[in-house]
Amino acid sequence: MPNKAKGRKRAARNGAASRRRSDVVRELEGVSWYVGCPHSGKTTAASVHARWFREKFGVPVVVVDSEETEDFRGLAHCAPRELPELVWKAKQSVAVKPGSVADVDAVAEAVRAGKDVVLLVDEASLWLSNRRCSEALLRVLRTTQHCRVRVLLTTQHFSGDIPQAALACAPDLYLFRTTSPRALDVLSRHFSIDAEQARTLEKHHYLAQRTSF
Ligand SMILES: Nc1ncnc2c1ncn2[C@@H]1O[C@H](COP(=O)(O)OP(=O)(O)OP(=O)(O)O)[C@@H](O)[C@H]1O
Ligand SMILES: [Mg+2]
Repeated sequence: MPNKAKGRKRAARNGAASRRRSDVVRELEGVSWYVGCPHSGKTTAASVHARWFREKFGVPVVVVDSEETEDFRGLAHCAPRELPELVWKAKQSVAVKPGSVADVDAVAEAVRAGKDVVLLVDEASLWLSNRRCSEALLRVLRTTQHCRVRVLLTTQHFSGDIPQAALACAPDLYLFRTTSPRALDVLSRHFSIDAEQARTLEKHHYLAQRTSF
């Protein structure tokens, strides 16, 4: 089979629906990035994976709902100061719509204090760039084992603007269609990706790369 056709077949097998739970869910620690162009399926895959972690470890999910997307409409939304009561006392999964970096910092601080949780940050590049960076979120990314937290981050914009600390934590990568040369360049510095395959991935399909232990 020619290489190109082989690549397409492998990509098809890597579709969100066909990924096995046991490949995705291991320990309640570590970081996963969901990267790709608009409407490629990042938030859906991250939500499914978050649910798998929640079911396996019996822990709630906290969502940073950066863009108020449909996906999280069914979740109760709350202010960061309400998290201890709802998440760690009532064991409820919730979402926070952050208005500023201070809100993301507050969510991250609550996660560090409360532990045993899944944290999903949708459109994470809004809060992890040189211009606007949640230091508390970076701290969580560096200490997921200590916090007993799995962090799932989605982004359309994967550029050199993302702080090194957010990539130096041996994250897993779920790569959806990516055509931007800049994003492919940054990705190739941290992961072994096949740019041609990344450019031609079908909608809702991803390539998965595990770099954590
Ligand atoms: N595996 C899938 N099978 C079928 N439909 C899917 C799948 N994944 C996502 N979708 C649908 O595709 C649309 C886009 O998905 P999603 O919102 O997850 O993409 P996204 O990459 O997060 O988009 P954005 O960049 O706008 O945030 C949604 O309507 C979603 O329900
Ligand atoms: Mg999305």
